[in-house]
Amino acid sequence: MYSRPMRIGVVTEVAADERRVALVPESAARLIAAKADVAIQKGAGETAFFPDSTYRDVGAAVLGTQRQVLTTADLILTVRPPSSTEVALIRKGSLLVGMLQPLNQPELLEQLAKRGISAFSLERLPRISRAQDMDVLSSMSTVSGYHAVLLAATRLPRFFPLLMTAAGTVTPARVLVLGAGVAGLQAIATARRLGGVVRAFDVRPQVREQIESLGAQFVEVGEPVEGAEGQGGYAGEVSAASQKREQEALAREVAEADVVITTALVPGRRAPLLVTMAAVAKMRPGSVVVDLAAEAGGNCELTQPGKEIEKDGVWILGPLDLPSRMAYHASQLYSRNVTRFALALIKEGQLQPDFDDEVVSATCVTHDGKVLVSKS
Ligand code: NAI
Repeated sequence: MYSRPMRIGVVTEVAADERRVALVPESAARLIAAKADVAIQKGAGETAFFPDSTYRDVGAAVLGTQRQVLTTADLILTVRPPSSTEVALIRKGSLLVGMLQPLNQPELLEQLAKRGISAFSLERLPRISRAQDMDVLSSMSTVSGYHAVLLAATRLPRFFPLLMTAAGTVTPARVLVLGAGVAGLQAIATARRLGGVVRAFDVRPQVREQIESLGAQFVEVGEPVEGAEGQGGYAGEVSAASQKREQEALAREVAEADVVITTALVPGRRAPLLVTMAAVAKMRPGSVVVDLAAEAGGNCELTQPGKEIEKDGVWILGPLDLPSRMAYHASQLYSRNVTRFALALIKEGQLQPDFDDEVVSATCVTHDGKVLVSKS
């Protein structure tokens, strides 16, 4: 396909609050071993604490400008969607891989298709065991679940652990985790390590065992929730009546908790509303809610995406950038995932995506001049 070595390019992320980099030196070395030429924009890894010298040390080229990378790369790796200025610089026929948020970016997809760029969006990876090592959503959820607990712990005017001191006993923090997917399970594990007493609920009943194996108690909300089982290991959207029952049952749990971490999501839908304003009103002053579903509309009625608000002494945090706040490890995990995906596109030292492979076909959002996803 190409007479020269294929070039894999990485530029500095353009979003103002983004500190991650799509490729870290360890993974650049793997791609170079697969006969790729790797080019990084000068300073692209700096905000994640990977200086240019660490890329040079593994044999990557460090180029002075974004243009030099984008106009010469055959495959571009990115964390977030590129800007339209960047897309205009990408060579026709190149490949682009990243978390492209395809459903929210119709104009970007049109532009990519028009320029003949084949784009692959890693949020669309099928959750099959073969694709586990490419699963960026799991990696980023791991970071978010962990960091959410640390945020709550620093905001809370209480200890997490039980302490026996000369001044008497301090009771442990009571933590409630709602949604026990990847982020929720990591939040449970982190809260337990800090010494909190953790209770958790998920609408998928098979998660009970995982919650208990982490030393947390599974919360019963009465009858099983209708529609709980969706497709591909995800939750489905529950009926309005079930959601109301769930909210009422959870309100009692919320009132007892010092910390509530919410992580419940249903793919392609607004996040389920689990913590109502009335439930927050019953929480003790000083308590903290961290809503990891803020970007999808929030699990708590009071959440404001990207903001920290206080209501009658209760803090409600809706952070959107937790993986970016832990840019070193978030980049390392993301880079390993994206590199696995890139290696699956390479055959005999050349880029040859196999569209019969479901990992390739499910993630492809533009190809051959066409947009392959629609918001329906
Ligand atoms: P997610 O981020 O889509 O949702 C988070 C959690 O919210 C899920 O556990 C879901 O059941 C829960 N939820 C949804 N609606 C709810 C409601 N009304 N009340 C309470 N909880 C609610 O899910 P995530 O973290 O991406 O993982 C989903 C599943 O996929 C998990 O079982 C996970 O273990 C599995 N998985 C499988 C992988 C593989 O085989 N490659 C990779 C990663 C995850």
